[in-house]
This record gives sequence, C-alpha cells and structure tokens, in this order.
Amino acid sequence: MILEALDIRKLYGAYVALDGVSLSIREGEFVSIIGPNGAGKSTLINVLTGVLQPSAGSVRFKGKDIGGIGTVALTRLGMARSFQLVQIFPELTVLETLQAAAISRLGRGARLFTSLAGDSQVQADALEVASLFGLSGKAHALARELPQGDKKLLDVASAFALRPEIILLDEPTSGVSTADKHAIMEILVGAAKRIGLRAIIQVEHDMDIVFGYSDRIIALHQGKVLADATPAEIEADAKVVDMVVGRRRAPHPALSPEGRGNPEPPTPLGGENAEPSPPMGERAG
Ligand SMILES: Nc1ncnc2c1ncn2[C@@H]1O[C@H](COP(=O)(O)OP(=O)(O)O)[C@@H](O)[C@H]1O
Ligand SMILES: [Mg+2]
Repeated sequence: MILEALDIRKLYGAYVALDGVSLSIREGEFVSIIGPNGAGKSTLINVLTGVLQPSAGSVRFKGKDIGGIGTVALTRLGMARSFQLVQIFPELTVLETLQAAAISRLGRGARLFTSLAGDSQVQADALEVASLFGLSGKAHALARELPQGDKKLLDVASAFALRPEIILLDEPTSGVSTADKHAIMEILVGAAKRIGLRAIIQVEHDMDIVFGYSDRIIALHQGKVLADATPAEIEADAKVVDMVVGRRRAPHPALSPEGRGNPEPPTPLGGENAEPSPPMGERAG
C-alpha cells in the first residue's frame, strides 16, 4: 500500500465536499478518479497531496500521516502533482521550467538561479525530462508560446522532473483535442515506465482515456465514493454508468440497429462519450 485515505471528510464552511472517502493505492497501479463537476475530485487530490488538511480522517503515504503536510515536504517524500489549470511560468522557456524542477529536486535552491543554469547536473536532468516528453525540439520556446497540448505536457513533465515515486494529475488532458489527449497519455505512460513510477492517480473526464488506461476507477458522487472497481466492473454497474460515466453505448442495442454513426471500435469500450454534459440530470427509465 503506497497511499491510503481513511474516512476523509472535508468541509468548506458548512458545505460537505468530501463525506467519508476511503481509498488505497497499491504498487504499480494507474487509478482514475471520475465524477461530475462538484463531486469533490479536486478537493480529494488536494487532500491526498497534503495541500488541504482534511476536516476529519487521515491520509498516509508510505505509512506516514501527511494530512496538510504541504507540497514541499511531500515532494521530498516522493509525491508530485500537476494541477487542473496549468501552473507553468509563462516567461520561462521549456528548459528553464524543467531546470527549476530539477533545482528543487536536487536541493540547490539556496543558490541563485542564474548560476544554476550552467550546473551540469541540472542541465542534464532537465534535458533528459524534455526528451522523455518529446519536448527537446521546443527546449528554448517560451512556455506561454506553446500550444495547449504542449503546455499540459510541460506541466506534467515538471512534476516528473521532481522524480517522484507516485504522481497525481488533475485532468492532465483537459482542454486539448482528442488526438492530443491520446498522445499525452502515451507519452505519460511511457515516461512513467522509464522513470519507474510506482503509481499514477489522475482525475479525468474523458471516458475513452479513463477506460483505456486505468487499472482501477474510483467514481465520486456528492463527496462520496460511489464505486471503486476495475473498468469492466464499472462498465457493468448500471448505477455508476447512469450517475457518473454516462452512456458509452446505446442502452438498447436491439432498438438502434444503426448505432449512432460511430462505427470504429477504439479502446476496450469504444463508443462516444458525452463529455460536456454531466450525466447526472438525465436518468432514463
Ligand atoms: N475553496 C472552496 N470553498 C468553498 N467551496 C469549495 C471550495 N473548493 C471547492 N468547493 C466546492 O466543493 C465542491 C467540490 O469541489 P471540487 O473538489 O472542485 O469538485 P470537482 O473537482 O469534482 O469538480 C463544489 O461544490 C465546490 O463548489
Ligand atoms: Mg476539479
């Protein structure tokens, strides 16, 4: 067990954002957290990464209680994260961004940044991550000038540059095209193998990505865990499909012989995913 949350509650004033959430992340797992907007996914990531102190319950990483411990201390322990909204520094280049991460990892923050650009280990480290993420050709481009897909990639790459043991990603592919989403995931999974990451936890809305890459899916709904199971089990759970996943297939194949004009059978499940519409309101009988 690498990461464990026990009966987490998180209140914002009187509002209960997380209501008794428990989960465990095991060695080697790729876990996706899904749920409609407002379900508490980002709050959960913030609690799991020590950014927010839970109102009740505990979070343990490698056996240590890390509630509210803060990002810096947690990075040292071996956990890194990326954010739902990209957190890159717009005026730095790709390489400088990765150098900044390498500097903090190598514990060289006490010296001036300018003197560190020439630090060969920092350089080598940053270049290696750039190459791992296919960003070598853009090493000297300003972060703000990158297309959205590369911005997301750089954000994830900066988290990887911390050489964590586990990584938590809040919507790593949000705001990019479907083709770019798959490209980002392929790069991410490849990089994870190369650096020997022990677990990946991501929040993701795109169900093709979720079902295509996850070992396990945790569905949140109104601050509670609605389901915690394999993709196959989740797909077979009508309640979770209704409340969280949305219809990935025509519900009555016999009644719709022509399908919906989406003939290619991609990833394990296939079918289109109604991304923009939170599947909550509509519960067909
Ligand atoms: N800092 C905050 N103060 C008050 N309410 C918040 C705060 N952050 C989130 N919330 C509320 O908590 C609920 C869960 O939010 P969030 O964790 O961001 O959900 P998700 O990421 O699943 O969309 C939402 O109703 C949101 O409005
Ligand atoms: Mg969120």
